[in-house]
Amino acid sequence: MTATQPVRPGEWFDTGMGLEDIDLSWYRMDITTDRYTDPEFVRREHESIWLRVWQVAGRASELPEAGDWLEYRLLDQSYLLVRGKDGQIRGYVNACRHRGNKLCIGRGNAKRGLLCQYHLWSYDLEGHLKGVLREKENVLTALDKKGLGLFPISVECFGGFIFVNPDPNAAPLAEFLGQEVVDLLTPYHLDEMDTVLDVREALNCNWKVVMDAFEEGYHISGIHPQLLQVIMIDPSTTRYKFFDKHSVSCAPFEVAGKAYGLEEQVEGIMSLPETFPSVTAVLPRFQELVAEHRGADGELKLPDGVTPRTLLQKATRETLTGMGFDVSALTDAQMSDNHGWVLFPNFFMTVRAGEATVILAQPHESGDPNKCYWHIISVMWLPDEYKEALHAQRIDVTEPGDYKYFTALQQDYEQMPRQQLGLRNKQLDHMSLVKEEVVIAHYHSVVDRYLGATQGVAP
Ligand code: FES
Repeated sequence: MTATQPVRPGEWFDTGMGLEDIDLSWYRMDITTDRYTDPEFVRREHESIWLRVWQVAGRASELPEAGDWLEYRLLDQSYLLVRGKDGQIRGYVNACRHRGNKLCIGRGNAKRGLLCQYHLWSYDLEGHLKGVLREKENVLTALDKKGLGLFPISVECFGGFIFVNPDPNAAPLAEFLGQEVVDLLTPYHLDEMDTVLDVREALNCNWKVVMDAFEEGYHISGIHPQLLQVIMIDPSTTRYKFFDKHSVSCAPFEVAGKAYGLEEQVEGIMSLPETFPSVTAVLPRFQELVAEHRGADGELKLPDGVTPRTLLQKATRETLTGMGFDVSALTDAQMSDNHGWVLFPNFFMTVRAGEATVILAQPHESGDPNKCYWHIISVMWLPDEYKEALHAQRIDVTEPGDYKYFTALQQDYEQMPRQQLGLRNKQLDHMSLVKEEVVIAHYHSVVDRYLGATQGVAP
């Protein structure tokens, strides 16, 4: 996929819709609670959403060598992603065509092909059946074997992520995302970033509780009070862009809010690495720029149009460019502002120059609507000399509480099961969204469209 707009697509923000521009009559703001608690709803989602959509299964860097494979589980389904000798990643239903044995569990490498351990049938990396134990005695012809290859699924990569669609005849990923989404995401060069955090854990809440939690900043005052010291959420300056199935929004980054003095704003930026680790690399240049504006008495004075925010933006662009990362197609605001992307059905990403954190929510394999998995992947652009030391391998957390997430994420982790407990109460038949939660409303409208599609309405 290639971008068709060469110049700073992030400028959409300057003309993007504000809250006041959004006609809420387009959306249902009362969201029924059965979608979080009803096993029948899980079954409908499985058929109408999960088996039909593109979804992220991991990072392409997880399969660096020919023969590397990775199991992708989705409810009770299992798929196998394999890098071929030609470098392409392909996907298959993870079931042997003989008597259905699960071919692979977890991850591994099978340079010489995939072997079913039950009766030793073997497949090449393109999914063709190659070897059959005592083939002659069992009178299997070449034609028989040709028809017994692994069932394929659709696989494509974008931004360094592996997208899969269980439907082997799915429309291309670019069509599902839409060209505008591709154009807006391409300048971040996500495919050049390395994984620095990769954690998956089962949670006691529905997968949409996870999605909802990251689709609004309304909860920051309640759950993340520490962030108010460094990020001021001002609904009047937040901008939104809605696509057919997806959305992006951005609350401009204003350090410590306008009510704080310059020194406090500088302090706020200096504390950012607690939440946004890549800012660490930018701080030395930021401090130099601040020092240039200090008088002999040490007092900080900034000329008109210069603020700690613009100094951070300048430091970020200079530092990343100096290290060899191309940020030329990103706006100054994208040097400091995190854009929150929702790619239907289960991908949330907060991204700015050089860094992104993705939260993937998945239904639980048990089919229990009160459980799900979340999968956190943080990626960062790194100079070559840091790649090996900072690269993170997947951690599958099996004991709740064993893994400590960074502060803001830990707070969400602890909050979400509590919401699920409330949603289970029978008298609560719907939630009541406020205007600031319009992204949630848009998101559920897409859920509803997919569910309606099983009744003949196109999603
Ligand atoms: Fe795989 Fe028999 S089930 S070889």
